[in-house]
Amino acid sequence: MKSARPSAFWSRPARPGAEPIPARAPGGLRSDAEMKVFCGTANPPLGEEVAAELGFPLGRVTIRRFEDGEIYTRFEESVRGADAFVIQPTCPPVNENLMELLVMVDALRRASAGRITAVMPYYGYARQDKKHAPREPITGRLVADLLQSAGVHRVLALDLDADQIEGFFAIPVDHLRALPLFAEYLAAKELSRAVVVAPDDGAVKVAYRLAERLRLPLAVVFQRRPSPDIKRAVQVVGDVEDRVPILIDRIISTAGTVCSALDALRQHGARSEAYVCATHAILADGAVAALSRDDIQEVAVTNSVPTPAQKRLAKMRILSAAPLLARAMRNIHLNESVSSLFT
Ligand code: R5P
Repeated sequence: MKSARPSAFWSRPARPGAEPIPARAPGGLRSDAEMKVFCGTANPPLGEEVAAELGFPLGRVTIRRFEDGEIYTRFEESVRGADAFVIQPTCPPVNENLMELLVMVDALRRASAGRITAVMPYYGYARQDKKHAPREPITGRLVADLLQSAGVHRVLALDLDADQIEGFFAIPVDHLRALPLFAEYLAAKELSRAVVVAPDDGAVKVAYRLAERLRLPLAVVFQRRPSPDIKRAVQVVGDVEDRVPILIDRIISTAGTVCSALDALRQHGARSEAYVCATHAILADGAVAALSRDDIQEVAVTNSVPTPAQKRLAKMRILSAAPLLARAMRNIHLNESVSSLFT
């Protein structure tokens, strides 16, 4: 016998004379669900900027620590049925910020949020996206599993350390690129003698795209990693002689990759007036001193993670990713194309 069950888009009045219950969008979210944006403690200024771009305030949430360091969180407004976004880059302190995100998501799920999107402008633990040796973890996958177990329905990320991390999720991942921000920033410079450089092979794709946009030649510095935190340049491919190098990478952590690439470029005759662009300014201890070298003119990064005053160099330019994130969040909420933001 045919089932009399209504379809997913069926709606009926709650009681005579009442407004019909709005149809549900695919995924269980009501089509009239309110968009609510919350921010963890990892990068509040970015959260405020995103909210300003969206034109409404951040949702109210209390986040604090118990005496023993455990995380307490409480949403101070109803999220029932809401299209909830949590902005939280999992930058250092990585474990704290990741756990805080998981705890917030758990609270949202238990409070019946209709859909939960983790907005992760920086996705920590991504550097271990495969095993290099036996008995190692794949932490990029582990974090994906944790997020999904906690109740995340979607992820919005910016320049993941490796594209394959998207495949670690069984839920939709929208992967934004900061490349347009860097292209716009660089377009205002005198670039007639410039060359775009991938400071290691992992950055070739992004460097190629930037070179295409700026109509500049491309060079690649190949490096090897004698130990997990050290890189050494072994070969420069491409003509860099008497050219201004524009290095682009996703992350500056110790700045070792950038500095060893610059040394190699100098040895191949590049000009000592480089631009360095990187989406995520992690800036581990020693990185700021390393970037102070005279052959770098400017260092451009985004605000995906906070850059405290003591880590800011006069030659640092911080480009805001907030407009891009806000547009993507609005498009996700309205069920509109996110990839259209790249064209
Ligand atoms: C990812 O973007 C790349 O592997 C980077 O080249 C690397 O994470 C940069 O790290 P560091 O600044 O410590 O050399």
